[in-house]
Amino acid sequence: MSARLLPGGPVAASVLADVARRADALRARGVRPGLATVLVGDDEASAGYIRIKQKQAADLGFDSPHRHLPADAGQDDLLEVITGFNADESVHGVLVQYPIPGHLDYDAALQALDPDKDVDGMHPVNMGRLAVGLPGPLPCTPAGIEALLAHYEIPVAGREVVILGRGATLGRPLAMLLAQKRPTANAAVTVVHTGVGDWERYTRRAEILIAAAGVPGIVRPEHVRPGAVVIGAGVRYAGRRLLPDVDEACEQVASAITPRVGGVGPTTVAMLFRNAVAAAERATR
Ligand SMILES: NC(=O)c1ccc[n+]([C@@H]2O[C@H](COP(=O)([O-])OP(=O)(O)OC[C@H]3O[C@@H](n4cnc5c(N)ncnc54)[C@H](OP(=O)(O)O)[C@@H]3O)[C@@H](O)[C@H]2O)c1
Repeated sequence: MSARLLPGGPVAASVLADVARRADALRARGVRPGLATVLVGDDEASAGYIRIKQKQAADLGFDSPHRHLPADAGQDDLLEVITGFNADESVHGVLVQYPIPGHLDYDAALQALDPDKDVDGMHPVNMGRLAVGLPGPLPCTPAGIEALLAHYEIPVAGREVVILGRGATLGRPLAMLLAQKRPTANAAVTVVHTGVGDWERYTRRAEILIAAAGVPGIVRPEHVRPGAVVIGAGVRYAGRRLLPDVDEACEQVASAITPRVGGVGPTTVAMLFRNAVAAAERATR
């Protein structure tokens, strides 16, 4: 058996088509959505991600003011940029490209951001909104995974979902999201991690297994229930090479699986723009 592939590209295209329609509706009433980007330092990969997001912003008709701070910028310089964007009514969303240089405190920068402009959905206020089920920007990768499952009409409600990893950006918010009472979620969610020595006992019974550990090749065929849906979200980079959590051979056991490249990644970027257009709608209602 070879699994059906679940590429993220078509999911992202459908989300972005909806974002484009909503951006058009905003412009029709005189509002141009604004997504500001902040880059600190000269990391090549980060600069590349910013370029991709700026091109996408231009394609969608968003304004995208950009601030590039030098690698030796201080915490105060970064906070000044963030508070400036917080106060700017033409800016509805702000993205601080991660990672930032090691001498700076990313969490403090995130907490300085207006939660309503937090397009990454990672501000503690937004994590709290997610926890209690209030509307607000959702963390992009978890929201992208929910959208991917919905796009491919993979039932989630009532099914056994196991997430390998409880990290703050992925496993933890994803568990909250997929356990919510909503037709595209509503799952029986189990989260396993290094504290669960025999985690394969849980992954082997998962109808949907989501790898969110960031440990290359950690999920092998013997960890997967035959016929399960496998979503590979965890990755590590070795230079420019991407090393996924899910071993290639899992394709022989799963019924459906995300491709090694172009799975969850494109949906993450699409969710950033969905958060941005929603922020513009909220701010100008
Ligand atoms: N595709 C995307 O767009 C996207 C976006 C965001 C993140 N990611 C990727 O997702 C991964 C997770 O991100 P994160 O920020 O949540 O990472 P993180 O904070 O490092 O969390 C990793 C989690 O995996 C668990 N884990 C690590 N090694 C394990 C092992 N040998 N056995 C069992 N559990 C293990 C850890 O357990 P403990 O808690 O016990 O340490 C932890 O809960 C990373 O690879 C990241 O690159 C991808």
